[in-house]
Amino acid sequence: MQNRLMKKRLMKKEGWAVAQYTVLSTSPTFTKYSPQAAGILEKKGCRLVMIPPNGLREREDFKAVLAEAHVWVVGINKVYAEDLEAAPNLKLIIKHGTGVDSIDLKAAAARGITVANAPGTNANSVADLAFGFMLSLARQIVSADKRTRDGFWGTVMGKDVYGKTLGVLGLGQIGKGVIRRASGFDMNIFGYDLVHDSQFEKEYRVRAATLEEIMSEADYISVHLPLLESTKNIIDRSLLEKMRPTAFLINTSRGGVVDETALYDLLKEKRIAGAALDVFATEPPRQSPFFELDNVIVAPHMGAYTEGAMGAVSEIVAESIVRVLAGKEPLSVIKTN
Ligand SMILES: NC(=O)c1ccc[n+]([C@@H]2O[C@H](COP(=O)([O-])OP(=O)(O)OC[C@H]3O[C@@H](n4cnc5c(N)ncnc54)[C@H](O)[C@@H]3O)[C@@H](O)[C@H]2O)c1
Repeated sequence: MQNRLMKKRLMKKEGWAVAQYTVLSTSPTFTKYSPQAAGILEKKGCRLVMIPPNGLREREDFKAVLAEAHVWVVGINKVYAEDLEAAPNLKLIIKHGTGVDSIDLKAAAARGITVANAPGTNANSVADLAFGFMLSLARQIVSADKRTRDGFWGTVMGKDVYGKTLGVLGLGQIGKGVIRRASGFDMNIFGYDLVHDSQFEKEYRVRAATLEEIMSEADYISVHLPLLESTKNIIDRSLLEKMRPTAFLINTSRGGVVDETALYDLLKEKRIAGAALDVFATEPPRQSPFFELDNVIVAPHMGAYTEGAMGAVSEIVAESIVRVLAGKEPLSVIKTN
């Protein structure tokens, strides 16, 4: 106790802000690409404690910091009701990114903990990846690289992207980003969403369509729906079976939105041409059957990870933290009930 007091006095004497609040981050990239974000927290008297997400619940330091934490910055890890029971001071859980399906929202609501995220900041990086996947699938870039290194020198016959039909499922920030890119490739664009942004649809010549229409007509289908009760396995076997044998599916949203078993069966039987998956129903997808298929490109949930996007996300998260600690609303609050 005396030691702590002495340390506080010394910190004050040397002009350091005395940490009033503990911010736990289990997102390894929080503040990594933005010294400004770290500065925002420091200025407000926040002590930032970074704990890696792997094997989180076996770590003693995690339990100790959670018991003190006022804020929890969450990355890809889950947040369970038991975690919240062990965090009596927690005021805010904030996602260092967009998707909050890994957080027990009901448990947070029951304890009066605000949940927030930082949407939109990584939309361009995810849209870039989705578009990159589309080009890679069409031109077999990933397998051509491997084969050329192995000594192959011959024709790799690709499919066209320019002028083809693209179906975008979910016309939020990311889906719209994909459409903006696709318009530069003169693609015919179909869009599916519950909400209509008629100005955007007009500007980018997006034809609003049903899921059935898109699945049966598009050459490329890019999924950007959030994982909710209403969207779980929404792209089910009957919809996947409607796809053309020459069509490709790209999923950079959440694995649980697409019926993975049905997708695997159709890819294996070559009833659809290929797929690119940044996300899986269970992550990490150890020994996934998709790994056996040569018409699939896989990635480790990397859509959001560009340095620019991570820096921008960190700044929004830091701003929201200081707002909540000052008794205000975060920049983007999640409704928990
Ligand atoms: N791969 C990655 O690293 C990565 C990074 C960020 C986000 N994501 C995922 O991408 C998803 C989309 O992100 P966003 O920023 O575009 O979100 P967003 O909230 O801007 O857009 C989601 C869109 O889906 C629509 N929608 C919701 N439920 C629907 C339904 N049942 N039927 C039709 N439309 C429905 C909404 O109206 C909205 O327009 C996120 O929820 C997240 O799961 C992945």
